[in-house]
Amino acid sequence: MNYKKLGNINLEVSTICLGTMTWGEQNTQEEGFEQMDYALDQGVNFWDTAEIYSVPPKQETFGDTEVIIGNWFEKTKKREKIILASKVCGPMREYVRGGGNQFGEKNITAALEGSLRRLKTDYIDLYQLHWPERKTNFFGKLGYEHGDSNEWTQFEDILGNLQKFIDQGKIKHIGVSNETPWGLSKYLELSKEQKLPRMLSVQNPYNLLNRTYEVGLAEISIREQAGLLAYSPLACGYLSGKYRNNQMPIGTRIERDGEFWTRYNKHNSSKAVDAYYEVAKKHGLDLAQMSLKFLEIQPFVTSVIIGATTMEQLKTNIKSVNIKLTDEIINDINEVQAIYPNPCP
Ligand SMILES: NC(=O)c1ccc[n+]([C@@H]2O[C@H](COP(=O)([O-])OP(=O)(O)OC[C@H]3O[C@@H](n4cnc5c(N)ncnc54)[C@H](OP(=O)(O)O)[C@@H]3O)[C@@H](O)[C@H]2O)c1
Repeated sequence: MNYKKLGNINLEVSTICLGTMTWGEQNTQEEGFEQMDYALDQGVNFWDTAEIYSVPPKQETFGDTEVIIGNWFEKTKKREKIILASKVCGPMREYVRGGGNQFGEKNITAALEGSLRRLKTDYIDLYQLHWPERKTNFFGKLGYEHGDSNEWTQFEDILGNLQKFIDQGKIKHIGVSNETPWGLSKYLELSKEQKLPRMLSVQNPYNLLNRTYEVGLAEISIREQAGLLAYSPLACGYLSGKYRNNQMPIGTRIERDGEFWTRYNKHNSSKAVDAYYEVAKKHGLDLAQMSLKFLEIQPFVTSVIIGATTMEQLKTNIKSVNIKLTDEIINDINEVQAIYPNPCP
């Protein structure tokens, strides 16, 4: 395994982070346990979850993934070996604390207490804001319509609340997710000016079908030492190649819940996947591994958050750290990107 520093602090996280959001829906607790055992054994010390998992989110399964992780901690007594990231969700449907804003003192406190209880732990290493409260573009939304309302929790207040949790020892570090360059910069500026805690990471989508992070955010990640935790690195599985030629394997995410996961099924996405598949084939590589490795080697990426529903996928994905991408392979990948730039932004 490879390791990188989280943000600007002296904490080494594995460059593969274990994603967990299928546990409790597509995967059972037993399967989750097997993934955790194996990942830790392979040196994957960094795990990501969220109060809202499992996915697709539903009232009945809210918090179920955290429960599975908590049960594993209780069973194995290995909590201290893991750098655990979780998230408080942004405005959500009624069933999450009545809907609406979530980062004000009352709701964020309730969210954290709920996560700690389900996770059966006293602390979360990296507590992330899952998506912004304010009206802006994330989750693939295009076409910017400015919303001038100030009806979201002001960043100083959010950071102030997070500081309290840090002082209480309930969280150690903080990060954002689905954030924009403006949002990240503003948080960082306020932290400096007002001596408030600092966002150490940005959990945003990044994969060969969506390299938009390279514009704007990548520079901030490097200059400000707030690296990317790349989510959906295989574009929900499309970059394994298994949906090529109109195949729809039974039991896969897209076959089960295709209407929820439309983000990577866009104009030109299948042509781009075909082209990346040819690059992998030309160089004797597995497409999924090539796709993951390309992300891992980017200097603005701290860790690649993998998702797997089978042990075979998990092994393939973790082993991606061992392959080497030559300059020729990287050039070939960039050529495909030039022909099909970000089909799924
Ligand atoms: N912050 C956010 O808003 C956000 C959003 C999404 C994800 N995340 C985090 O990022 C993690 C990973 O995201 P993701 O699951 O979307 O990642 P992904 O790598 O894009 O997709 C993972 C899915 O692709 C399929 N797959 C994975 N490896 C494969 C392989 N080697 N061969 C064939 N199929 C393979 C599996 O689904 P099937 O078996 O069903 O095909 C797997 O569940 C999540 O668990 C979560 O922790 C965060």
